[in-house]
Amino acid sequence: MEDLQVGELQAALSTKWLGRHCLMLPEVDSTNDLLKEMIRQGGDGRPPAGFVLLTDFQKRGRGRLARRWEAPPKSSLLLSLLFHPDWPAERMNWLTMLVSLAAAEAIETQTELAVGIKWPNDLMVRQSGSWHKVSGLLLEGDFSADGRLLWAVVGIGINVNIPGGELPEAATPAASLLTAAGRHVPRLPLLADFLNRVEKYYEQAANGRSPQPGWEEKLITLGQPVLVTFTETGRSLNGRAESIDDAGHLVVLDDDGRQHTIAAADVTLREI
Ligand code: BTN
Repeated sequence: MEDLQVGELQAALSTKWLGRHCLMLPEVDSTNDLLKEMIRQGGDGRPPAGFVLLTDFQKRGRGRLARRWEAPPKSSLLLSLLFHPDWPAERMNWLTMLVSLAAAEAIETQTELAVGIKWPNDLMVRQSGSWHKVSGLLLEGDFSADGRLLWAVVGIGINVNIPGGELPEAATPAASLLTAAGRHVPRLPLLADFLNRVEKYYEQAANGRSPQPGWEEKLITLGQPVLVTFTETGRSLNGRAESIDDAGHLVVLDDDGRQHTIAAADVTLREI
């Protein structure tokens, strides 16, 4: 497996600020946790906006809903990006939208795969006739007293060259770009392409242009029968995903015809 070198990455970037400060560590517990710790410690070591923390292996990689995120050493892309958006809290979902859209487009450009987005932020590719998850995002942030986003850490894991036998077992079946495309995918061009697109979409968002239209075009959830599970209460409902509202919430019509607006939950596509 090829190494990821910061110098080579920066030479391949066309960004002005994203990834211009970058740290690559061979192994960490979790890039999101370490980046948040660096922010909390403050002082001269406080990372600037656009900072990228990369690793080749996580011992305690975290997913949404307290799940684990696992990948063999040097097989994948595992990183966290730091933003200082100063946006109203209602726009927080713009970050996951723009980062997942950038990742989907970079994967499509660097492989021959078509990528779909499963609400809210799982990237899916088709393998053996059904959608499999290749990437997930974990957004964490802090707000000011007047409801503005002070900082946000967006962690992303992309299963790049994980052999089929080493993919994690999960409720949503997992794939890697290797298993779906049937060939090794070099990590560095994919990473550079992804970061270049993130900066472009972030700047558009900072100028008030929502990433929603492009993101929604890739959403495979709409029109589909879904099982929605609210992890905090354990409650669930069956219905059909109808639309997305302005805040990026999922509007679901349940089997009794009642409408639900879902901000956060586990949503599984139901095969019927
Ligand atoms: C999910 O699908 O539930 C989100 C997965 C997010 C995984 C990434 S890998 C880099 C970053 N560090 C972590 O601990 N998690 C995120």
